[in-house]
Amino acid sequence: MSSPYFFMAFLYLLMAVLTALDAALTSFTLLPWFNGLRWLRVHFITLGVLTQITFGLLPGLVAIRTGQARPKFRWDIWATLNTGMLVLLIGIPLVNRTLIFSGGTLIFIAVVLLGLQLYGMRVAPGASSTPPTDNEVDPRAGRKFYLMGLAYFLVGIIVGTGLWLGWVGALRIHTPIEVHIPANNWGLLSMVFAGLLVDLYPRFSGRQLAWPRSITPIFWLMTLGALGLVVGPWIASQYFIVPGLILHLVATIWLWLNFVQPAWKERCSWSPGMRHIALSYFWMLAPVLVAPLILLGVPGFPGAGIEQNAPQALIYGWVLQFGYAIVPFLFRRAFLPKEPAKLGGSTFSLVTVNLGGAFLWASIFVTSYTGILHGTAYALWTLSALPITAEIWGIVRDGLARLETSGAAPKQT
Ligand code: HEM
Repeated sequence: MSSPYFFMAFLYLLMAVLTALDAALTSFTLLPWFNGLRWLRVHFITLGVLTQITFGLLPGLVAIRTGQARPKFRWDIWATLNTGMLVLLIGIPLVNRTLIFSGGTLIFIAVVLLGLQLYGMRVAPGASSTPPTDNEVDPRAGRKFYLMGLAYFLVGIIVGTGLWLGWVGALRIHTPIEVHIPANNWGLLSMVFAGLLVDLYPRFSGRQLAWPRSITPIFWLMTLGALGLVVGPWIASQYFIVPGLILHLVATIWLWLNFVQPAWKERCSWSPGMRHIALSYFWMLAPVLVAPLILLGVPGFPGAGIEQNAPQALIYGWVLQFGYAIVPFLFRRAFLPKEPAKLGGSTFSLVTVNLGGAFLWASIFVTSYTGILHGTAYALWTLSALPITAEIWGIVRDGLARLETSGAAPKQT
């Protein structure tokens, strides 16, 4: 039963909608600015929604994929993660060092416990009941993406927790925020999202990825790419950043083509959910594509504006949009197991979330209208989350109603 994580994920989604609305009203100068809200805005989505879904989903998914017994629910991991989150949510706006340290440490311990649980679920080569055919991905592949993602998460937590605790000097980090963001985005989320596509694409698309044999090279390209993008800003060396950027870009585009190519010609396969996933990677690649212009210091190019705002377009355009498709799919599998599990999203959420990304980037370049464009971006992102929130609420309501009538517990996804 993974629903305690799913309920927390739903709660954080509601908070993410509220903080996006606040960002819109603040940019329109209709509301005063509150301390720490910027941190909350990003982390309700990343540490909130996506981390809860990851913890709730991975043990069961790895067990299903590798033909193992479903693992018992680990209340110790759930309690450690969520106590850490609560302490951090109090500590960060107050900039309270003890609370930030305790919250970060508890989340660190929860990630280690989940990593050890997944590591313990290894299957000896050839032991899996159904060895993959040539055009199928090895069912053990997803697990290694999740483990590598969690390893990068640990680096992201150390740097994020240490950012306001003065650890930067002791850890000899040159530009800490530029280590924190890549460790969590090009490391944790890129790897976990890649693992989810590897494990779930056959289920939500009814097809196999285009080139199953490309998954291992993609894994190593993405792992080494993320390493370059973490070590580079840590020691201020372009000799790590540039190859890291190229390796990660190749891995991401290769993964994206694996996802798009099998359904490319069939218009009917392109549900709003499939389009959400495909388009979300555009917002992931946008900062990567403009990075060389910033590194080269092209005159007149708003490098500082991009560094200031691109993380938000990354989290809302890529992470949240990917979640719009995958989160309702996982809720459906957990709460309505007898129904065909389809991806989430609608034409409305598709148009508004991507228009939001366009307005946020426009606010970086059209500086005379930054406030109104920035506010409009957040207003559009707030609107885009409403049908998804309603869709998830509908799934939970129907699922719980069926449980009451059948007296069973929600299904393990
Ligand atoms: C224990 C876990 C974490 C802690 C303690 C933490 C801490 C921080 C801190 C202190 C900042 C700087 C805020 C500022 O200077 O305004 C920050 C920024 C950021 N963090 Fe985290 N973080 C954590 C997890 C994550 C995760 C899991 C992700 C994404 C997957 C993430 C993504 C970001 C991004 C994108 C920013 C830049 C926000 C912006 O510039 O708007 N963080 N984090």
